Amino acid sequence: MGLIDIFKRKKIEGVDDTMYLTLREERRISKENNKIIRKFEREKNRKNVPEEEYLTQMRDPSNVVEFEDLHTYFFTDVGTVKSVNGVSFDIPQGKIVGVVGESGCGKSVTSLSLMQLVQAPQGQIVKGSIRYQDSNGKCYEITKMPKDKMLKIRGKDIAMIFQEPMTSLNPVFKIGEQMDEVVLLHVEGSTPESAKARSIEMLKLVGIAMPEKVYNSYPHELSGGMRQRVMIAMALSCDPRLIIADEPTTALDVTIQAQILELLRDVKNRINGSIMLITHDLGVIAEMADYVVVMYAGRIIEKGTVREIFHDPKHPYTIGLMRSKPTGETRDNRLYSIKGQVPNPINMPDHCYFYNRCDKAMNVCSRDYPDMVDFSSTHCAACHLYYGEGLQEQNKGKE
Ligand SMILES: Nc1ncnc2c1ncn2[C@@H]1O[C@H](COP(=O)(O)OP(=O)(O)O)[C@@H](O)[C@H]1O
Ligand SMILES: [Mg+2]
Repeated sequence: MGLIDIFKRKKIEGVDDTMYLTLREERRISKENNKIIRKFEREKNRKNVPEEEYLTQMRDPSNVVEFEDLHTYFFTDVGTVKSVNGVSFDIPQGKIVGVVGESGCGKSVTSLSLMQLVQAPQGQIVKGSIRYQDSNGKCYEITKMPKDKMLKIRGKDIAMIFQEPMTSLNPVFKIGEQMDEVVLLHVEGSTPESAKARSIEMLKLVGIAMPEKVYNSYPHELSGGMRQRVMIAMALSCDPRLIIADEPTTALDVTIQAQILELLRDVKNRINGSIMLITHDLGVIAEMADYVVVMYAGRIIEKGTVREIFHDPKHPYTIGLMRSKPTGETRDNRLYSIKGQVPNPINMPDHCYFYNRCDKAMNVCSRDYPDMVDFSSTHCAACHLYYGEGLQEQNKGKE
């Protein structure tokens, strides 16, 4: 290592096990990244891709979306961040699927992958598939879909509601203009008049008492709850088949939160659509979801129906999450918390990612990443406690 490298050592902040990179290492990583990124981008920018290349079949025709072994990585100068690392789950027609997990576990990146909105060029889907079925029963492989075709689906068939509506609304245009634009873009044969009528109708639908007034307002003139209603109205204006709601109520206070959730459920029933509900709030999941997917550090560690997850959680992390709910069990009147931190996303271990935080950890847990174990046709968890060597060790302890 040269003198210069010592002076140029760079610290990567915010991670548990601090890592250092020399300038030379950084250059090497950057060069390798460019090579990989160019390959992916070339593939994505192909023109006139024949439809057969991105048409596919659903594994189960009652699903709207199927994620299968999805890997989405970010190729950064300090290393590859494996944000989504082998995620598989389904979103059935007419159901609400809750995705929970600590902040940074890959929930948003999973949903952005589905929308083809992962921050390119450093962010890329490197492996796996995302199948989407439209209202005519046609199935698309989103990971292979050309950008121009995706534009037709995004915002129309699949709509997204974000955590902070102020970042998705443009501050310099009135609400009405922004809503009309969506309708004009996606609803065939719409005129400025019909678009306005549709926007007003949607504002009424989401419980806004003076739709005309809101229509003529700028985003900053509305309260947070109002803005979120506007976002929902906008998302609904094209009758989407799937709504992705990414922490839709996190920025709102509790009473407004309940109203917004109620509203989401109402509109879901009205359009018989599906919702992918992303949150770190288990209360929201319990109230809303049919199915729950628990993510940890880019992987699914447990999934099941809402009943299975809440009444019979299997993974120690899910059990910990349940106990850290404010209404859950307390110890010495203090809220339970799961000790430790998520591992550094750049240097993921080969063993279970939850190993160093788990109070049930055994020898085998520090050796191999656990397999998924099925508990019912809908319920499974990835944990050594329930099979093979780990199960034997468990039973021995009980004797
Ligand atoms: N544009 C990006 N560049 C690099 N890393 C990113 C980027 N976006 C997200 N990540 C990383 O991906 C991981 C998952 O992020 P995210 O899906 O946003 O988490 P959350 O579960 O809180 O929604 C995090 O470790 C985050 O740092
Ligand atoms: Mg997020």
